[in-house]
Amino acid sequence: ATDPFIEDLISKMTVEEKVGQMTQLTIDLILQDNEAAVVDNAKLRDVLVNHNIGSILNVKGRAYTMDEWHTILTAVQNVATKETRLKIPVIYGIDAIHGANYLAGSTLFPHNIGMAATRNPDLVNQSAKITAIETRASGIPWNFDPVLDVGRQSLWPRFEETFGEDVYVVKTMGAAAIRGYEQDNLNTDYTVASCMKHYLGYSAPATGKDRTPSYIPEQMLREIFLPPFKAAVEAGASTVMINSGEINGTPVHGSKYYLTDILRNELGFEGVAVSDWEDVIRLHTRHKVAATPKEAVRMAVEAGLDMSMVPYDYSFYDHLIALVKEGTISEERINTSVRRILTLKKKLGLFENPFPKAELKNAVNKPEFDQVALQAALESITLLKNEKQTLPLRKNSKILVAGPTANTLASLHGSWSYVWQGNEEKQYPAKAKTVLQALQSEIGKDKVVSRSVADFGAAANYNTAQLKRDAAQAQAIVLFLGEKAYAESPGVIDDLTLEENQQALVRAAKETGKPVIIVLLEGRPRVMSAIEPLADAVVLAYRPSTFGAQAIADVLFGDYNPDGVLPFTYPRFVGDVLTYDHKGTEIIREDVPNVAGNRGFNPLWQFGHGLSYTTFAISDLRVDRTSFGQNDNVRVSVRVKNTGSRAGKKAVELYSHDQYASITPSARRLRAFSKISLQPGEEKIVDFTISAKDLAFVGQDGKWVTEPGAFDLMVGDQKATITLQ
Ligand code: IFM
Repeated sequence: ATDPFIEDLISKMTVEEKVGQMTQLTIDLILQDNEAAVVDNAKLRDVLVNHNIGSILNVKGRAYTMDEWHTILTAVQNVATKETRLKIPVIYGIDAIHGANYLAGSTLFPHNIGMAATRNPDLVNQSAKITAIETRASGIPWNFDPVLDVGRQSLWPRFEETFGEDVYVVKTMGAAAIRGYEQDNLNTDYTVASCMKHYLGYSAPATGKDRTPSYIPEQMLREIFLPPFKAAVEAGASTVMINSGEINGTPVHGSKYYLTDILRNELGFEGVAVSDWEDVIRLHTRHKVAATPKEAVRMAVEAGLDMSMVPYDYSFYDHLIALVKEGTISEERINTSVRRILTLKKKLGLFENPFPKAELKNAVNKPEFDQVALQAALESITLLKNEKQTLPLRKNSKILVAGPTANTLASLHGSWSYVWQGNEEKQYPAKAKTVLQALQSEIGKDKVVSRSVADFGAAANYNTAQLKRDAAQAQAIVLFLGEKAYAESPGVIDDLTLEENQQALVRAAKETGKPVIIVLLEGRPRVMSAIEPLADAVVLAYRPSTFGAQAIADVLFGDYNPDGVLPFTYPRFVGDVLTYDHKGTEIIREDVPNVAGNRGFNPLWQFGHGLSYTTFAISDLRVDRTSFGQNDNVRVSVRVKNTGSRAGKKAVELYSHDQYASITPSARRLRAFSKISLQPGEEKIVDFTISAKDLAFVGQDGKWVTEPGAFDLMVGDQKATITLQ
């Protein structure tokens, strides 16, 4: 239904005003030319009054304080609603990717890769709600999150921003984030518009380099990459950001097929489609599908784009005005985009009150928010190996702490942490501790021997001779390894292997004869098979952020029983980077065990792997029927018992395997999961409901189908077979 208020506004707008609404510029264009985060009033008026711009984004150089945000946004909305002809408020957008990371002193949550390891969508939902509260409190109503790209290419620098390699995990977690951000009502002090990104196929560049081409068969595109966006539309996502790259030679920003036929007509998305950074002009400058900048603008708008993140100049604005005035693009076409943008502004309540609210300034940094961040970090940490119960360590033992990620905040937080690349130590709030600091407070400074410094590249972090000498004082060696913070380009990763000088540390540690514990702070699986056998225990902490160090200390010393499970397959070799749901024929090796249908596939650790300090027994997998029809539900139940001596949580996962299908079936596919808590000796029955739809795949004709025949259902080592008639 049309909205008379919006239609009335559109009827009064000039072409310039309409195109201005479709243009998004970066904050640099309204700030003074220094680092002071102070608005230059002449520049601001030029942007809003002379050029009718409707949207601004970003933060420049560093995170701003709450007062700075309020001052900037008040100035922006003052000019927009008092000095422009139609008084249309600006919609401001920001990347609050794992918390309100553009806001100085805010609490950050683990990156999505760790959130996925929690297998706890409620934590994702809670962290999104907190991020929304803090973002709204800053005066910003639009968050460019969540990332719904499925992480199928671990060389991609932004892999840590994904919920991992599995489509079901990504769509479940992504929808939980959207519901947290939007809560079906954008006009509140505690919700923001979300932005599903980066539609479509961004996370699978062939070389792994950011914003480079993907080659994705249509069948895979629909089965793996599209479903999180479909689920996000169903969860109510208000906006979408487009993939900067190209799929099979088609830049997504210029594609009517992706932006209109699939996004609008198939998924039924009615919200705002915004470009990524400079991506309209890149159709001309980089992708070379448009011979001129003007042609690039025509292509993107005709494809279905609503707003261009330009972000530095008026090229999009000038060309689009010309295209409309000369009749190449109809005014009706731009009205459609303007209608979507104004509708979003209205839903956000910006026409009623676009100004930051002073009373919300204190809505941030609450102790209960810290609690959620800590819980998320705790539940993400994944115990990959624990020989001879090396962990937990005894608090009265003396430990040697070494390695490049022991005393840095950047590796704990990863990208988009107060600064874009996340790599400036001085940006972090006082409550963020390095693991070295957290361990010192956990067991006392006198029990921690360390020379680690807060500089990833420093020789002190890799000194093997010193390590061996210092080990004489300690009962165990804890090596903090992994990778530094990365974001988009320039975060180029050429080799997935863990750095050689980190591996040398492990070899040196092993030579001392002391127990060796490796803790990995990394946003992807770094290949480490050469040194893994030398470690007694391996812990993967991903990018756990502000309370990550405390969470790691709690796990190492047994204050928390780890329950995270892998959101990706941890490869053994750089030549064996495969997802768990690969084809049954992918690798045939007679010399490796057959795990859950994965004949001959032998990663270092399987997707879904994660140990605990207790043990669980899974038994009695039952189905309420073995034969079912297209519209039937099958109830699956399984008994899970804590057979150890500690309370613990267990992510119970249901996989399926299609025995025969017209397209070669995956080795197995995750269909449902549920995380439960069990006291020692306690047992619970976990129920899942599965229908034919849940077992579907995309067939040769590009359509979803569940073919009659037998399906194996698997939980742990239990299996049942059901047959679709
Ligand atoms: O939202 C981001 C996107 O993920 C990458 N390019 C820049 C955008 C705005 O900062």
